[in-house]
Amino acid sequence: MIAGFSKLSQQEKIDYLIKERGLSHHATELLINHHHPELQETYNQFSENTISNFYLPLGIAPNFVINSKWYDLPMVTEESSVVAAAAKAAKFWSERGGFKTKVISTLKKGQLFFKADWSFYELSTLLPQIEDKLKQSVAELTTSMEKRGGGIRDIDLDQIELKTGTTYALDVYFETADAMGANFINSCLEKMGDSLHHLLQIHNPNKSVEIIMAILSNYTPDCLVECTVTCSLDELKPYAADFSAREFANRFKHAVDIATRNTSRAVTHNKGIMNGIDAVIIATGNDFRAIEAGAHAYASRNGKYASLSQAEIKDDIFSFSLCLPLAVGTIGGLTSIHPMAKIALEILGNPSAKDLMQIAAASGLANNFSAVAALVTSGIQKGHMKMHLSNILQTLGAEQDEIEQAENYFKDKQVSHSLVKAFIKSLRN
Ligand code: MEV
Repeated sequence: MIAGFSKLSQQEKIDYLIKERGLSHHATELLINHHHPELQETYNQFSENTISNFYLPLGIAPNFVINSKWYDLPMVTEESSVVAAAAKAAKFWSERGGFKTKVISTLKKGQLFFKADWSFYELSTLLPQIEDKLKQSVAELTTSMEKRGGGIRDIDLDQIELKTGTTYALDVYFETADAMGANFINSCLEKMGDSLHHLLQIHNPNKSVEIIMAILSNYTPDCLVECTVTCSLDELKPYAADFSAREFANRFKHAVDIATRNTSRAVTHNKGIMNGIDAVIIATGNDFRAIEAGAHAYASRNGKYASLSQAEIKDDIFSFSLCLPLAVGTIGGLTSIHPMAKIALEILGNPSAKDLMQIAAASGLANNFSAVAALVTSGIQKGHMKMHLSNILQTLGAEQDEIEQAENYFKDKQVSHSLVKAFIKSLRN
């Protein structure tokens, strides 16, 4: 065990790994090569105990038309086919009216948990009397947020029955304008905790009060966005492969309906949505764990985990829509300090948080559309295998003419590393 690892310099940390973990010379060189020549200090700040950087590609899915506005989406993902699938669906829908999106709500909730010798009834009766004082206690934090159109919108009381007795939650609802607002919400809640303690003690010094914790909630069902694409059945033909457009639409709807009823399928279906959403969320410096947690909780809101998207066919019109919570920010946090996040936001025309909710939702629906379309036609492996082949060819250092010959040869054959290697070897001989 080592004490004081964090105090070591970056080189000393690497030396420690060489000594204790037998890090090879090659690995050491790679770690150093992945340092940024000018901005390493900036990158170091994002986390702790940094020894290098871990690259992920930043790609562009062009041609997204969202509410008649044209975007090129920056996407960061380690999964091949995700950007290509988004780009393909974006182009397809751009010729069919584009993505129609709407922000339904933008409230975020923070929770102040406390124990008290007060009944729920007593506390609920007192709350309207002390609400203003609670808000005033955080005025120095909320004033500038109010100037940007945000602030505290509502305060509610909830009770949680535990084996050890009743615990209360003061649910505080916030608007955070273009900021994700995590720090703002947490600071307000912590300060409000002191104030709540004080106010309850003033009202009845004989009743004990204990603040347990204060934290924002990543369950954000009041920060919702929806996104829809619509076209006539005939217009689906380019995705229908060997099926008629109508057959394709029916198969597509069938697949989505399965995800509305079967949890195992719903999780994978929603993962396909999150492929598109996370890639935009990461590119723009937002917290993808928060987005994931909130989205999956929302998918379970009716007591059973289900698909976040729905497909409809009515009067020969196909529509496909997605509704989910996306609590994002476009100012503050990593969005303003990660050089790549800043560029990603610039590529998107420096959107507001509401714009970004809609852009990310469109990306999610695009990926979901491509994935389900592939699943109900050629299957998912065909596209994946093409990417797989290209990755293998790259690791084998294949030249352009070798790549072309391999692509042609493996068009209708099983792809594996050993088969591709043997093929390239035969070409080189
Ligand atoms: C793979 O990353 C995503 C899919 O599994 C999504 C789906 O099954 O709908 C293809």
